[in-house]
Amino acid sequence: MLKLDGVSFSYGSGVPALDDISIDIENGKMYAVIGRTGSGKSTLIRHFNGLLRPQRGRVLVDGENISKKNTDMKSVRSRIGLVFQYPEQQLFAETVFDDIAFGPRNLGLDGGEIEKRVKEAAAAVSLSEELFGKSPFSLSGGEKRRTALAGVLAMKPQTLVLDEPSAGLDPGARRELSKLIAKIHDENPENTIVFVSHSMEEAASAEHIFVLGGGRLIAEGTPDEIFLQPELLRDAGLSLPRSAELIMKLQKRGIPVRSAYTPETAASEIAKSLEKERLPR
Ligand SMILES: Nc1ncnc2c1ncn2[C@@H]1O[C@H](COP(=O)(O)OP(=O)(O)OP(=O)(O)O)[C@@H](O)[C@H]1O
Ligand SMILES: [Mg+2]
Repeated sequence: MLKLDGVSFSYGSGVPALDDISIDIENGKMYAVIGRTGSGKSTLIRHFNGLLRPQRGRVLVDGENISKKNTDMKSVRSRIGLVFQYPEQQLFAETVFDDIAFGPRNLGLDGGEIEKRVKEAAAAVSLSEELFGKSPFSLSGGEKRRTALAGVLAMKPQTLVLDEPSAGLDPGARRELSKLIAKIHDENPENTIVFVSHSMEEAASAEHIFVLGGGRLIAEGTPDEIFLQPELLRDAGLSLPRSAELIMKLQKRGIPVRSAYTPETAASEIAKSLEKERLPR
């Protein structure tokens, strides 16, 4: 359980990057954080594992205030794993193997367990063992992301926090990564996932969404609550998922179709509407 209680943070200039944020993150759920660029998403999630400390308010991990000076940060970071927005900021070792092994080594695990964790984590992100001896900096963008993700998974954190995991990838690689995250969530139902995304389609796969605007929490709720309120997203400077836009266009033309925001539900609602028209009155 992760809780932010009235958290504010400023990088020094006048405007705060976070302004009085209070949120609860429950174990076992998948969360998305959305908001336009500069709204404070990365700043927010850097508070989750103590990388940044709030200037006002508190961050509680399993009930413990991690903003206190004597907090065991190693223990916090083994429970809350953060994958950075830019994998280059995370990768540093000479080989892919050593990079993924860094966390488990830091936990003081023995050699056999380290190797097992590295192999499992690489398999979980579909990273070929053939890359283990390569420099992480010689990898493609998608492979770098997978390596950074594997390095965090190898710590087996209770909560996995991903800052724009699919940014900079082509549509095929984005879809693959989304599927991978969904799979990690399915296979580890007791673990929590929080991801930041610019894609409304990706955010729709979360169970709960936080919407940030100008450092404030301007809305939160289920995808239904967020995506069926187009004015809310417009105020946050965000667009609707494309499926929801299509449905709205149909509704504006007077076609009786119920609101939906995923490709699957939109298709099904359109099919239902067409089906009704075919029936004799
Ligand atoms: N290291 C820093 N020093 C000074 N200001 C910063 C720093 N990092 C972020 N900021 C400022 O804090 C605000 C929030 O930035 P943040 O990176 O959290 O936004 P974001 O929502 O993650 O944006 P993006 O979608 O572009 O990643 C912005 O106004 C940004 O310019
Ligand atoms: Mg960011």
